[in-house]
Amino acid sequence: MSDLCIRHAALPDIDAVLRFWRTAAEGTSISDDHDGVARLISRDPEALLLAERDGTLVGTVIAGFDGWRCSAYRLAVHPDHRRQGIATALLDAAEQRFAALGGRRVDAMVLEENERAHHAWQAAGYHREDHWRRWVKPL
Ligand SMILES: CC(C)(COP(=O)(O)OP(=O)(O)OC[C@H]1O[C@@H](n2cnc3c(N)ncnc32)[C@H](O)[C@@H]1OP(=O)(O)O)[C@@H](O)C(=O)NCCC(=O)NCCS
Repeated sequence: MSDLCIRHAALPDIDAVLRFWRTAAEGTSISDDHDGVARLISRDPEALLLAERDGTLVGTVIAGFDGWRCSAYRLAVHPDHRRQGIATALLDAAEQRFAALGGRRVDAMVLEENERAHHAWQAAGYHREDHWRRWVKPL
């Protein structure tokens, strides 16, 4: 992983990140547009982590901390670069950020049918809790 660079995304990265997610991410989010990502980066400039190899974007994770919960979103690795430890490196970086901010536990929402993701989260030390359901209301 020595050739892997992990850095914070900045506003000029937004279009590349949105393109990357169309190829690499699972599912879409209500915030998946230029304004949505710009709001994230403007509110918390260290939240969106990018993994690059030779200057090419190969992975992302959002490490969101609101002072109460640590939430990991948008863990995604380019299909051509999987099983090389990139998600592991991104989660390490996210967890280091959370720990430095005083976070105590990391939450991740993972689709029930996304078995590949279950393996990856489990390998990183996460476990599933069965007694929650997501409750939502669009604004
Ligand atoms: C899930 C995902 C992020 C994993 O990224 P990755 O860089 O390939 O993961 P890593 O190489 O760090 O894998 C770490 C460990 O996770 C487990 N793992 C990862 N992918 C796996 C797979 N397809 N099958 C079984 N185990 C897997 C393995 O234990 C692996 O260690 P190993 O390769 O030494 O066996 C990637 O497959 C992806 O982007 N998928 C689409 C987006 C997605 O579903 N994101 C998660 C949303 S909740």
